Amino acid sequence: MNEIAEKIRKYIADNLNQDINKLVLKGCPFEEVSIEFLVNQIEARKRLKKKLPSWIENQKIMFPPLINLAQTSSEITANYKSKLLQGDSIIDLTGGFGVDAYYLSKKFKKVFHIEHNAELSKLAKYNSALMMQSNIDFLNQNSIDFLKYLTKKVDCIYVDPSRRNEQKRKVFQLKDCSPDLIENWSLIASKTKNLLIKTSPILDLKLGLKQLSNVVEIHIVSVKNEVKELLWIIDFEALQTNETKIKCIDFNGTSEMTFEGNFTLEDKAESIFSPPQKYLYEPMSSIMKSGLFNLVSRRFKLKKLDINTHLYTSDKHIENFSGKVFEISEIVPYKTKLVKKRLKSMKLNVVKKNFPTLVKELINKFKIEEGGENFVFFTTSQNTKIVILCKRIS
Ligand SMILES: C[S@@+](CC[C@H](N)C(=O)[O-])C[C@H]1O[C@@H](n2cnc3c(N)ncnc32)[C@H](O)[C@@H]1O
Repeated sequence: MNEIAEKIRKYIADNLNQDINKLVLKGCPFEEVSIEFLVNQIEARKRLKKKLPSWIENQKIMFPPLINLAQTSSEITANYKSKLLQGDSIIDLTGGFGVDAYYLSKKFKKVFHIEHNAELSKLAKYNSALMMQSNIDFLNQNSIDFLKYLTKKVDCIYVDPSRRNEQKRKVFQLKDCSPDLIENWSLIASKTKNLLIKTSPILDLKLGLKQLSNVVEIHIVSVKNEVKELLWIIDFEALQTNETKIKCIDFNGTSEMTFEGNFTLEDKAESIFSPPQKYLYEPMSSIMKSGLFNLVSRRFKLKKLDINTHLYTSDKHIENFSGKVFEISEIVPYKTKLVKKRLKSMKLNVVKKNFPTLVKELINKFKIEEGGENFVFFTTSQNTKIVILCKRIS
């Protein structure tokens, strides 16, 4: 693969803020590449600005078609994953664009990047050379075949199965992703002791635990409160228990918020319920995904608004809560006339939790101007619909 010429790199950098349609209409100013190539590089650089900031800084890095980039890990999540594994050798069964393999290569002596898409394999190898990472072997082949012929065990295997089926439709169930891990479970187990799987954030945790064995930890990773990845740590030599650790983690720029538990503790813990008091607590989204709602109540000594309302309350402010905290100014019963009168001409951030109406419909119905410092929660407590006015304090 040839390096992009200086003049082409300059064109890409100079046109990052231009209208793509206008660029296409103008046509390609170079003979060496097509306008499709140029537009793809520009679009990729724009879209990955937050996901891969240090890769974007390097003007020589080349990007694959956008469809291959959608499932790429971000720098933050790839770096996090590389710290979950230890050893000398690791195979990345689904190398793709190579972000995860790159961060793994900083922790392992030898990384095998296996990718059956020839273009993607070449591109990942080219970019890796640019970033001076020399301990990754790039192999353009089917990873299941690679494993079948592998004679020596490796310390770890990492897999981020493709979540697009043959018709290029999005899928998330393990059996629909490629490679099919369930079908190849014993083959994988015969080649390593430690396996790390990245799956879609949509996958149900209890279903995943039923379908996979020897799961010792699940990490629910969010960035700026948006769940990005579910990580399943498998130890093929561990005994199967009901106490798989669940770790929720959010990366928010400079800080990290965490929460840990397991389903056995969750079943044993009981929530205490109460109507809203002085403070309102909304757990971070990775906790919402974990379903460890009773543990939140017990751990932080907070009362829950209702069985299906995953909002909590207290009279005294609880510090270090893993989520957002609000100070309540008023609670209004959900009576249309009353709410209309109270919310009239207010600028508010609208949240709904365990409430049947869509946020969009609530905004229209009550003529709410969105934004500002104050919040309004449409929710249910003690089986009754209520409206909570509050201000965020942390
Ligand atoms: C979700 S992407 C991986 C992204 C990668 N972790 C990264 O950070 O850039 C999955 C990749 O696995 C590849 N793949 C799927 N099944 C494969 C198989 N059986 N053998 C080799 N590669 C496979 C796909 O072509 C795709 O590029």
